[in-house]
Parts: sequence; C-alpha cells; structure tokens
Amino acid sequence: MDAIEAILSRRSIRKYNKKPIPDNVIKELLEAAMSAPSAGNEQPWHFIIIDDPQILSEVPTFHNHAQMLKDASLAILICGDKNLDKHNGMWVQDCSAATENILIAVRAKELGAVWLGIFPRKERIKGMRQLLNIPEHVMPFSLISIGHPAEKQGRVNRYNTSRIHYNKW
Ligand SMILES: Cc1cc2nc3c(=O)[nH]c(=O)nc-3n(C[C@H](O)[C@H](O)[C@H](O)COP(=O)(O)O)c2cc1C
Repeated sequence: MDAIEAILSRRSIRKYNKKPIPDNVIKELLEAAMSAPSAGNEQPWHFIIIDDPQILSEVPTFHNHAQMLKDASLAILICGDKNLDKHNGMWVQDCSAATENILIAVRAKELGAVWLGIFPRKERIKGMRQLLNIPEHVMPFSLISIGHPAEKQGRVNRYNTSRIHYNKW
C-alpha cells in the first residue's frame, strides 16, 4: 500500500479480533513514530507499549471513550518529556506527528487503530500516570488502541474547498 492510499483510507477501528501483534510489526510502528518531524529535531517523546489485558482493562475506569481497549491486542501510550522539550511547548506538535505516523503505519500493515485523547484532560492524565507509574516531567499525550480489525470502515472524502485559501484569507 503506498503512502497516499494508507492516508486516504485510514479510519478509526474500534472492534478487533483478539490476536497478538508480532514484535517485528510493533518495532515497525515505533520506527514510524520516531521518524516523525520534531521541533529542532529534539524528539521529546517516549512510547509505552501496553499488552497486559489487566492494565488495558483499567483505562476505561478513568477514560469514558476507551471501551475498545478490552479487545485490543495492545495499546501504545505516546508521552512528551518536558525535560527534552527545548522549544517551549512544541512537544505537543511533535507527539501529534508521532501519533499520526503510527496510525498511518497501522493502516499500511492492514491492522486497525484508534487515537484516544489523553492530554489535556486532567482526569485522563492522572489516570495514566497512576496506572503506569509515569514521572511528573513526562506528560501522557495520546493512547493508540491497536488490533486486528473486526470491522470495516469505508473511505470518506473530507476534501473541503471552503477551507482552502490562496495567498490571503
Ligand atoms: C485528539 C483526538 C482524540 C480522540 N479521542 C478519541 C477517544 O477518546 N475515543 C475514540 O473512540 N475516538 C477518539 N478519537 C477518534 C475520532 O473520533 C476520529 O478520528 C474521528 O471521529 C474521525 O473518524 P476517523 O478516524 O474514522 O476518520 C480521537 C481523535 C483525535 C484526533
């Protein structure tokens, strides 16, 4: 699958067949994440792989849109490290770019995933911190639920000419 096809056909997948994802595929997803651009090339991210079903099942107790995790093969928590962020808050964009790269790589591998927002919701940040013992200088940013798809989501066309401006507003 080429890059444009993966981007245009990516959809959120929230139903999974509970099967493991091979280590080499997980490594490819992390390589995709760490290939993202970052401000000043600081790469201020960390990735926590969660494949323990017990831990995954805890997340919906503090995140009310995360029920799909009970059937996920694994989840990846993308975190920003404030000590590595030398560009005054740009870690948010850096972590967003890493998150989207994982979603596109998941689609290219014909797996399914959905981005679960963590930052800036206080109760979700606190929940992830306590669950995974994350230190204060590291901010949980996004959680990606990943599995083998048990649903199909069709391609949607969101191309919207009213949002495009040339040379001025
Ligand atoms: C910042 C962000 C937070 C999101 N949080 C959730 C979430 O908590 N739970 C969920 O099921 N989907 C979540 N989503 C997925 C969106 O609902 C989804 O991307 C959107 O409806 C568009 O659908 P699509 O991904 O299939 O194109 C989130 C997406 C983004 C970008």
